[in-house]
Amino acid sequence: MSANLVTAAYIAATILFILSLGGLANPETARRGNTYGIIGMTIAVLATVLGPRVAAAGLPWIIAAMVVGGGIGLYAARTVQMTQMPELVALMHSLVGLAACLVGFASYVDTSIAYTGAEKAIHEIEIYVGILIGAVTFSGSVIAFGKLSGKIGGKPMLLPGRHWINLAGLLVVIWFGREFIAAPSIEAGMTPLIVMTVIALLFGVHMVMAIGGADMPVVVSMLNSYSGWAAAATGFMLSNDLLIVTGALVGSSGAILSYIMCRAMNRNFISVIAGGFGTGGGAPAAKAGEQPAGEVVAVSAAEVAELLRDAKNVIIVPGYGMAVAQAQHTVYEITKYLREKGVNVRFGIHPVAGRMPGHMNVLLAEAKVPYDIVLEMDEINEDFPDTDVAMVIGANDIVNPAAQDDPASPIAGMPVLEVWKAKTPIVMKRSMASGYAGVDNPLFYKENNRMLFGDAKKMLDEVLAALKS
Ligand code: TAP
Repeated sequence: MSANLVTAAYIAATILFILSLGGLANPETARRGNTYGIIGMTIAVLATVLGPRVAAAGLPWIIAAMVVGGGIGLYAARTVQMTQMPELVALMHSLVGLAACLVGFASYVDTSIAYTGAEKAIHEIEIYVGILIGAVTFSGSVIAFGKLSGKIGGKPMLLPGRHWINLAGLLVVIWFGREFIAAPSIEAGMTPLIVMTVIALLFGVHMVMAIGGADMPVVVSMLNSYSGWAAAATGFMLSNDLLIVTGALVGSSGAILSYIMCRAMNRNFISVIAGGFGTGGGAPAAKAGEQPAGEVVAVSAAEVAELLRDAKNVIIVPGYGMAVAQAQHTVYEITKYLREKGVNVRFGIHPVAGRMPGHMNVLLAEAKVPYDIVLEMDEINEDFPDTDVAMVIGANDIVNPAAQDDPASPIAGMPVLEVWKAKTPIVMKRSMASGYAGVDNPLFYKENNRMLFGDAKKMLDEVLAALKS
């Protein structure tokens, strides 16, 4: 394939990637967006592999690597549970970071292109910065994977003087950057490069370990952004324009997503990155087994069906527990049934419900819930006082009134869905356990609140059966 043809293919792929991102902005066009992305990526990979920069002798290696990598990817995509998606995404980000590091070291020791003067300095800066971003992305994403999968506790780990440690790390990285550029030989440059890589890896670990449970959404989207910049840095190192553009697209859209997440959580971006935000003067989370004050009123599935049957306006608030129980299809059946009976049923979606951006929207779309009754938090929050039943399905932190009422709460200031303003809120969950942020929820003890204990899918099946009987 000639260089011109490769350039044309790259432009086509770039356009498809932009169309893909545009499509993914809306559930109705998301499927099309995905298709554009798949076609764009196929064109990009084929043009690169068949292009003039790959020697024919290397082709069997590349094809073998693609078969192995593609096989693992296919297996992972087929077997991963929907609830494990956020962890899978974090793991994918870590691979982008690792790739940037490996490409950085490889292009440093590669002497096939002899750079001189300013060109050499620029190439080395690209390598240094590329490995830096790659290493932070890699180790940060591995820790995020651990936190999202519950292998590492959600509590922030706050080292004393952590900001000073970070600042010292930054200064050392800048100092060794100077040493690296000034190094007379590849052997001499290797030491500063390795020292910086180790510091960057430690920084990634430190940064994500210091972030508290409820701030994880920002970290997930931030690492998504970093993985984009790591890919762009790889593009610079390899002089591959498509990789630069694609990386920048992912990097900037991830940055916008981080901003949206921060706004949704009412958090300051810098404070989240600095770590441990909201935990400084905060009250400690309720310890397991500690009995909170107040009484809860438990109800049966039949009583919930009764309340729903008598309601005119119902708002359903899904959360992580709906994803765990895979209850979305039964939720849809109940919604359909109630709508046929003339009940106005709508959904209120919190921006950080579940464990990844858009988690609930994906599940509801999968269950074929019409998009026009699925509303964002800001669109529906004022309607709770006119609502008869607010049905909270496996959600906890996102409906916690302490975020508004208790300035000492670790989630203070986070906007929440005001379900307690409905005539009867019903919370469906298995126990009195806390949610991801590990804080107690005063909603459960409100006088008008009812609790339906049990697995969300099982309980909703019972509610549906009771409704139909
Ligand atoms: P959570 O606060 O985590 O609450 C989920 C609740 O679901 C739990 O309290 C649990 O209670 C219940 N549950 C679990 N399995 C269940 C099942 N099979 N049936 C019924 N209930 C079940 O979830 P949320 O309200 O959706 O809030 C999201 C939280 O995750 C926020 O703190 C957010 O910051 C954080 N987070 C979000 C993201 C993104 S990007 N969305 C990423 C990382 C972290 P029981 O154990 O008593 O059943």
